[in-house]
Amino acid sequence: MTAKILDGNALSAKLRESLRHRAAELTAQGCRPGLAVILVGENPASQVYVRNKIKACEAVGVHSERYEFAADTPPQTVLDKIAALNADPAIHGILVQLPLPPHYDESEVLEAVAAEKDVDGFHAENVGLLAQGNPRFISCTPYGVMEMLSAEGISLRGMEAVVVGRSNIVGKPMTLLLIGASATVTVCHSQTRDLAFHTRRADILVAAVGKAKMITGDMIKPGAVVIDVGINRLPDGKLCGDVDFESAKEVASLITPVPGGVGPMTITMLLANTIESADRASAR
Ligand code: GUN
Repeated sequence: MTAKILDGNALSAKLRESLRHRAAELTAQGCRPGLAVILVGENPASQVYVRNKIKACEAVGVHSERYEFAADTPPQTVLDKIAALNADPAIHGILVQLPLPPHYDESEVLEAVAAEKDVDGFHAENVGLLAQGNPRFISCTPYGVMEMLSAEGISLRGMEAVVVGRSNIVGKPMTLLLIGASATVTVCHSQTRDLAFHTRRADILVAAVGKAKMITGDMIKPGAVVIDVGINRLPDGKLCGDVDFESAKEVASLITPVPGGVGPMTITMLLANTIESADRASAR
């Protein structure tokens, strides 16, 4: 069997078209959606992500502002900028690109963002709401994964889902969403004793570890849906996921490629959250 490849670019293009319409409607009503992106330091991958987020805003008619700070900027300077953006009615979403430099207290910065503008869904209040099954903003990558599954008409009820990775950005919110969709969820991580034992039981396997090609075809149940959240750079400069695509695609029924799978969906859901936030602001 060769798996069907889930095209995140194609689904993103479709979703972004309807987001562009919604943004235009809100703009016509005098509430143009606005996103502020904060980048601290010179992490090259973060610089690429931020550039892509700003470009995506432009393409759908979302106003964007980008604030860059040198790595040695005192945290208070960034906290002051966040406070100003919290109070700015032209801004509906505030995103602090992670990781922050080591002398920053990440949770202090994330909690400083107004929960109503936390389009990344990283604020403790929004994580709590998601855990309660009543989300305000869903973190963009797991949200994108759920949209991809839903676009394929995949019902998760009663399915064995295995999430590899327990990060705050992907693994934990992904787990909460899969539980919310009535899957039976197992979470694996660096201390899991027999990873393959668990992954081979998965009807839906989500890899979010950040280790190139660590999930190989022999670790996958025949016919499984394989979602690869990893973005890793190989020594030759090429991008690859956490899944060894060549061997996995011979076993899975559906698989996301890297690049062109979950990645574009992450940015699409950031746009969706920003527009949703503007929509709520316009209704207030
Ligand atoms: N760094 C890696 N992924 C993300 C993300 O989704 N949002 C932010 N803010 N930073 C990240």
